Amino acid sequence: MGPIDSGRQFWGTILGEYPDRCWGRILGLYPKTRECDPTLPRQKRDKLHTLPPRWLVIRRFSIWPAMIDAINSLQSQGESELAAATSAAQVELWRTKYLGTSGELKNLMAQLKDAPRDQKPELGKRLNELKVRLEASFEIQKNLLGNAPKGPAIDVTEPGVTLGEGRRHILSRTIDEIIDVFGQMGFAVADGPEVEDEWHNFTALNIPEGHPARDATDNFYMGEQSGVKRLLRTQTSTVQIRAMETQPLPLKVVAVGRVYRPDTHDATHFSMFHQIEGLCVDRNLSLVDLKTALLQFAHAYFGKDAEVRMRPSFFPFTEPSAEVDMKMHIRGQWQWVEIGGCGMVDPNVFSAVGIDPEEWRGYAFGLGIERIAMRRYGISDIRWLFENDARFLRQF
Ligand code: DAH
Repeated sequence: MGPIDSGRQFWGTILGEYPDRCWGRILGLYPKTRECDPTLPRQKRDKLHTLPPRWLVIRRFSIWPAMIDAINSLQSQGESELAAATSAAQVELWRTKYLGTSGELKNLMAQLKDAPRDQKPELGKRLNELKVRLEASFEIQKNLLGNAPKGPAIDVTEPGVTLGEGRRHILSRTIDEIIDVFGQMGFAVADGPEVEDEWHNFTALNIPEGHPARDATDNFYMGEQSGVKRLLRTQTSTVQIRAMETQPLPLKVVAVGRVYRPDTHDATHFSMFHQIEGLCVDRNLSLVDLKTALLQFAHAYFGKDAEVRMRPSFFPFTEPSAEVDMKMHIRGQWQWVEIGGCGMVDPNVFSAVGIDPEEWRGYAFGLGIERIAMRRYGISDIRWLFENDARFLRQF
């Protein structure tokens, strides 16, 4: 066999990628029309003396697909070596080896110039992708290891990082505790809206039109809705009306919530504060039941030595009415603290909600949450409760 024959198998390997097995075409040296003309008999085509000098073919063969293989293996080898790096120094060594000026990637790129012209764009694209990929992997690994603490992973002698501990606002806790006590005394929890109508805030509570309590400058009116004047409720006594309107008798409820008054802010006044309202309606209630309820609360909340004092007063919706003081032991001292109002439900209030005042009796009370909390915890300025300064709130 001559050199051509012995080479035929070799060429065949290369030409196998070309469906028409046309030698001349892959080498691009001969006019395609003649050499690749599929109409020529096979034997005739084979006999044509079309083989190029051997060196030319070998050169081409070594580039494609070998270069693609080299790109792929550089990628997998590079990435696995990078993943195996365990220190910043090793990552830097890797960088020099793969991405350095005479590194593996540069070497491979240098071979691009020898690639067949029609394959250059594809190979160039693949090389660029490889470069971007390796560089990105390098950055990630570098950051991972570069930021890792040097030396042992955990220094057990370091003081721990304490997480900021959250806690409930002192008012929320006070409210929960108070509701808890009344819950144990058999009171259910009732609720009402903060934006109220005049009926629930005034009229039904025996505060008729023209009463000074309705003065526009003393209230936050919010405009009318379907002809009804609305305002931010000035007291939780509104929930008394709502409860009596909707719940069957007898009833025993407490309601806690915000109330609003256009007070000038100072150490003891704020335009929004909280009240707890109590209402009990039954057949044979008297002032004794009212005082008992308040005393039981005082004992449960302030301790068994606490006392309750009722001073005659006036509220439109109770008759008789009284101010409530509680004697509590605060930071080593016994003191009387005025914490709200109370009384027997006025017959006019019963009539307003359609309850027969001859048949039913009721007692009611309203206590200020801020007052209780401030006295109990020695807070001398109500504004601190609403400034949301964590340094202040954290103390309780
Ligand atoms: N609502 C009254 C106020 O805001 C407090 C109050 C007094 C509530 C007497 C009552 C009561 O239930 O009977 O000043």
